[in-house]
Amino acid sequence: GTTLGASAAEKGRYFGTAVAVNKLSDSVYVGILNREFNSVTAENEMKWDATEPNQNSFNYTNGDRLVSHAQANGMKVRGHALAWHQQQPGWTSSLSGTALRNAMLNHVTNVATHYRGKIDSWDVVNEAFADGNSGARRDSNLQRTGNDWIEAAFRAARAADPGAKLCYNDYNTDGQNAKSNAVYAMVQDFKARGVPIDCVGFQSHFNAQSPVPGDYRANLARFAALGVDVQITELDIEGSGTAQANNFATVVNACLAVARCNGITVWGIRDSDSWRASGTPLLFDSSGNKKAAYTSTLNAL
Ligand code: XIL
Repeated sequence: GTTLGASAAEKGRYFGTAVAVNKLSDSVYVGILNREFNSVTAENEMKWDATEPNQNSFNYTNGDRLVSHAQANGMKVRGHALAWHQQQPGWTSSLSGTALRNAMLNHVTNVATHYRGKIDSWDVVNEAFADGNSGARRDSNLQRTGNDWIEAAFRAARAADPGAKLCYNDYNTDGQNAKSNAVYAMVQDFKARGVPIDCVGFQSHFNAQSPVPGDYRANLARFAALGVDVQITELDIEGSGTAQANNFATVVNACLAVARCNGITVWGIRDSDSWRASGTPLLFDSSGNKKAAYTSTLNAL
């Protein structure tokens, strides 16, 4: 293929990007989006603060704009994210216990119902495990509602949209370490007990301090062996030139080596679109030109 999306499709995969809906009026941005990508993730527009700014009052305007754009252009949609400790609306801060648990479940049910039939994969729960060596859950208002909050969210999502693949998504789980071991144990437990989970997302935000792990492929493979799809969900890699290009190729090759790695999403289009405060972690430069990392990615697909 001559584009990322077409080449990935030849391998039975998608190649997606995070999209900021307010950039859909930028012709350079949309030109690259429509040419290169066959999957999109809302960068912020489907998060809890965006979709439920007041309790039980839902706003789907911007999320719907992205879904419409995707449908008009034959792109899949990854839903991101139903339950997360960050980017919650302010009203959640006055809730705890059963009230917060029920508010979270009401949120999951409403959003997944609104988008029923339109989402390929949902990040049902995002970033619920702690960094470091504890292997523990991250402390959060949601975690304090009880350890079963994650499975409760997955069950609510399945009931609301039985056709969407339901994913757990996290960062610093890309290689084998205490955090990814803890996620692995959770997925194994969910599979054993029939808790509905279909996929695990590996954010894959890489830089000099957190490079592409040497056991990236092996880690994707051990999760896939549990009977879930694996997806690279928020890829960006700090750097430039040949080193960066080689790192992107390594990521693509790892995914292609794992049969159940069914898609890759980069977290933005141009370097200037990146959430990172500095650096050049994406495939297109700030003018929209293809970088060496683009070419190596395309060639690896
Ligand atoms: C980031 C967005 O890119 C920013 O625009 C926003 O200000 C903060 O969130 N992990 C995730 C994503 O799961 O939702 C985050 O996105 C990046 C880290």
